[in-house]
Amino acid sequence: MSVTALIVAAGKGERAGGGLPKQYRLLAGRPVLRWAVESLARHPSVQAVRVVIGSGQQELANAALNGMAVGELIEGGAERADSVRAGLAVIDADAVLVHDAARPFCPGSVLDRLVASLEFHEGAAPVLPVGDTLARADGTLDEAVDRNGLVRVQTPQAFRLSSLKAAYDRWSGPSPTDETSVLRAAGMKVAAVEGDPALEKLTRPADFERAEQWLAGRLAPRTGMGFDVHAFAGEGPLMLGGVEVPHERGLSGHSDADVVLHAITDALLGAAALADIGEHFPPSDPRWKGAPSSLFLSHAVELVRRRGAIIDHVDCTIIAEAPKVGPHRDAMRRRIAEVAGLSIEQVSIKATTTEGLGFAGRREGIAAQAVASIRMGILK
Ligand code: CTP
Ligand code: MG
Repeated sequence: MSVTALIVAAGKGERAGGGLPKQYRLLAGRPVLRWAVESLARHPSVQAVRVVIGSGQQELANAALNGMAVGELIEGGAERADSVRAGLAVIDADAVLVHDAARPFCPGSVLDRLVASLEFHEGAAPVLPVGDTLARADGTLDEAVDRNGLVRVQTPQAFRLSSLKAAYDRWSGPSPTDETSVLRAAGMKVAAVEGDPALEKLTRPADFERAEQWLAGRLAPRTGMGFDVHAFAGEGPLMLGGVEVPHERGLSGHSDADVVLHAITDALLGAAALADIGEHFPPSDPRWKGAPSSLFLSHAVELVRRRGAIIDHVDCTIIAEAPKVGPHRDAMRRRIAEVAGLSIEQVSIKATTTEGLGFAGRREGIAAQAVASIRMGILK
């Protein structure tokens, strides 16, 4: 069964305040929308993610989703249901997971339950019991509402795509706030699966504070290190930090021999305890002969992010008598940031000689050392 996640992010976030629409505000340095997309994209059942944005939000959305595979952004409408309909009109899959961008943290266990339920039902939604007493109020309290049998309904909600489309085609009521009501009105059954407090929607200003605290308790800083050496052989130029650097000698290696990218790739893999570059790209595999090392780096970044980690910073020291690194430093930082989906401030490149000592000093090759700082631990 092919599953597409449809994330609606076209709202204005008026109740949350804070200037920017809430889906573009930052939580632990990352936009809410990015968290939401990642938490769905990394689930093995989800083949594609599409995002519905408001008109005029293109730039905000591009910045928030930089480097993520979400296809073309879809333009939403005035009400949430209009945005959902706009998305349904363009996606193609057996099943769809409709999700609010304003719910940034979706545990994989909820997705497991939703997808499993689709085998027996046209739709499924995560629900939580109501803990507090419920009552009507208008300044003062009016009659209590019996909470027995009541639940709070969250997203993502899973549907067979054809069922949800048919149900929306038949819907004639006022704009619904979720899809379960639409499906039920069309006479179809929606399974209730266990929801999760992590899925609480960001609606009001205080919800952001709560989410920050929730995150802080789940992410631990981790550091990885990487080291690589390549020998000089033949003529230059050479690849360093993803940039072609003029030099009389080139570096030999199975790929493009970019020691800087190799060291950074290993540092990132190390930080997430995901083995090393040789494990993922064995030199014995002809696929990597002459490969651009940017491919290794972008793959490592993808693996680390799929593990639920945030990359904070990478720092690399190039150990070489020549060429001079200074004139190329910012080009390398820019290129590495581009490949890794980071900002240039998160990438540092330094260089040193070894005062003529050792293999680097004898100009036999170039070495590079890197460290990567990440935060990891959320949503296993
Ligand atoms: N949404 C949407 N299109 C709309 C309205 C809402 O895609 N026309 C999305 C929001 O971006 C959010 C989700 O639907 O991810 C849930 O809606 P809600 O919490 O009401 O968000 P907003 O409408 O943005 O907030 P508010 O109602 O406070 O303005
Ligand atoms: Mg709204």
